[in-house]
Amino acid sequence: MKTVYVTRRESFSASHRLFNPALSDDENIRLFDKCASPNGHGHNYELEVTVAGEPGRETGYVIDLKKLKQIIRGEIISKVDHKHLNYDVEFLRGINPTAENLVVAFWHVLASKISEGRLYSVRLRETENNVVECRGEE
Ligand code: NI
Repeated sequence: MKTVYVTRRESFSASHRLFNPALSDDENIRLFDKCASPNGHGHNYELEVTVAGEPGRETGYVIDLKKLKQIIRGEIISKVDHKHLNYDVEFLRGINPTAENLVVAFWHVLASKISEGRLYSVRLRETENNVVECRGEE
């Protein structure tokens, strides 16, 4: 059997501020530039979640995309859409919300919820040209 990769795309809008509280204001501005501005800024994010596996004998599915959609919306989108990622999201508490840190956090949320196939990658497009991807422990 061949491994097949199934991807669901979802979108959300959120604000964030890149800021490391362990560093001084000057160091934060040097590292994060205008992304550290005190009141934050927003992005229209696109999230792609890929599940890998063999198509089921009976269903022909790796995972029912309806179920994958429900998991992503229920566990991630409903909690981050139109929120401030530094303050409003329980599972992001204490995390500096770079795209890198977001995909790792999203991975941890999703990994245990996907029971058909296996979570293969979580990709986050933060701007037209910037995309970050997590493939777990790989
Ligand atoms: Ni940003």
